[in-house]
Amino acid sequence: MAQVFFLEKWLTKLKNVSYVGVDINKSFLDFAKSQLIKYPNYKFIQEDAVKVRIPEKFDVIVATSSYHHIKDTEKRAYLENISNRLSNKGILVIYEKLVSKFKEPIGAADSASKLYAERIKYLLKTEKPTEKQLFALFNELYLSAIRKGEYKVSYEISLGGFKIHRV
Ligand SMILES: C[S@@+](CC[C@H](N)C(=O)[O-])C[C@H]1O[C@@H](n2cnc3c(N)ncnc32)[C@H](O)[C@@H]1O
Repeated sequence: MAQVFFLEKWLTKLKNVSYVGVDINKSFLDFAKSQLIKYPNYKFIQEDAVKVRIPEKFDVIVATSSYHHIKDTEKRAYLENISNRLSNKGILVIYEKLVSKFKEPIGAADSASKLYAERIKYLLKTEKPTEKQLFALFNELYLSAIRKGEYKVSYEISLGGFKIHRV
């Protein structure tokens, strides 16, 4: 999915790189396009990453903060779909917020509360978060707890058996 910060800070520093960004949300893509308009090798596609069919193969696929938006029942298909697009020695980089292990969906309320309580406490200690930032975090806590649009999982079940190197 399109990552404007990563593109602006890192990818644009490399020469001869082609990039394809996928996101289901048009406004995210419009923003990414507007910021990266001078890079003709950057393409943006509005599609569901679970279902999108892209013919090219890629040396690096980066999925930042997107996995937790994919419903649990679609997580496996999502991982298969994106990893199928890797070239021979390609690397898939997944950046995610993981929560502590929980059993029933109701347990997500505990795990999400723990994660966000820590995050909010840390921010209050180290920075001066704005009301808007705090509201956004409490809203994420709420959505993660009721599992609506935020389907965070624990490390143990995060990749459904995919072989990974944790960094
Ligand atoms: C937290 S944002 C992260 C955006 C971007 N990856 C970044 O790191 O800046 C999550 C993004 O996932 C997108 N998203 C959610 N479900 C998706 C899906 N099924 N297919 C493609 N994009 C999706 C949302 O539209 C949103 O832009």
